[in-house]
Amino acid sequence: MRSARANRTKAERLAAATLETLLNAIDANDTVTGAHVRRVATYALILGEAAGYDERVQRSIERVALFHDVGKLHEALTDIFHDKAKLTPEERRAVMTHPQRGAEVLLPLSAFYPDLGKGVAAHHERWDGTGYPRGLKGKRIPLAARVVAIADSFDAITHRRRYSHARSFSEAAKAIAEGRGTQFDPELVDLFLNPPVLKKIERAMRQANAPQRKQQNRRRGENQPVPDLTFRWRQRSNGPRSPDRLP
Ligand SMILES: [Fe+2]
Repeated sequence: MRSARANRTKAERLAAATLETLLNAIDANDTVTGAHVRRVATYALILGEAAGYDERVQRSIERVALFHDVGKLHEALTDIFHDKAKLTPEERRAVMTHPQRGAEVLLPLSAFYPDLGKGVAAHHERWDGTGYPRGLKGKRIPLAARVVAIADSFDAITHRRRYSHARSFSEAAKAIAEGRGTQFDPELVDLFLNPPVLKKIERAMRQANAPQRKQQNRRRGENQPVPDLTFRWRQRSNGPRSPDRLP
């Protein structure tokens, strides 16, 4: 007879596999977003590690980073996000619904990951209370969302988007510094700008953009570089295993 603990562990693994399946679905739908969320997870974890968060908090940050933009896949938004034309005010309002839509997609997982939906819903909140959707202020914004907000902005600045060319690493660092205490949690910004942490971020960025990796991705039919730092608690080397054989 299986113990309650063994059953719980199996349920947690099933929930993690469900998240990985959802990440695969994001990739299948939109490789650009798939690559973006992985890079954001990489930067967010570097920042979380610098802050000294324990494994539980780090996993929570990683999940919020990986699924922060899942709401963009909503049918009502997908054309807007793929359209190269300038956003109309109405489209801009629609885009601003993606955090809440993402939280709704993730709602069935709230029993397993109670922080996930709240973090995803809050990733465009700002430290000074002028963000969306709720105008949360300061530490009322969930921690994972505060971490992801910095990583997300950094990645948005260093990658080409509809209207802006990719800017350099130092320009991105400067933009993060400028958001200290207005857009971003000031303590987290200080950590992010700490030279050893910045160095790690820069290394991770270069790795994600490495020509070698681009070539590999091209061979696999992908346009975007995809770092491998996701779902570290799963052993990926031998492919999926049966739940009973998972470590
Ligand atoms: Fe977003």
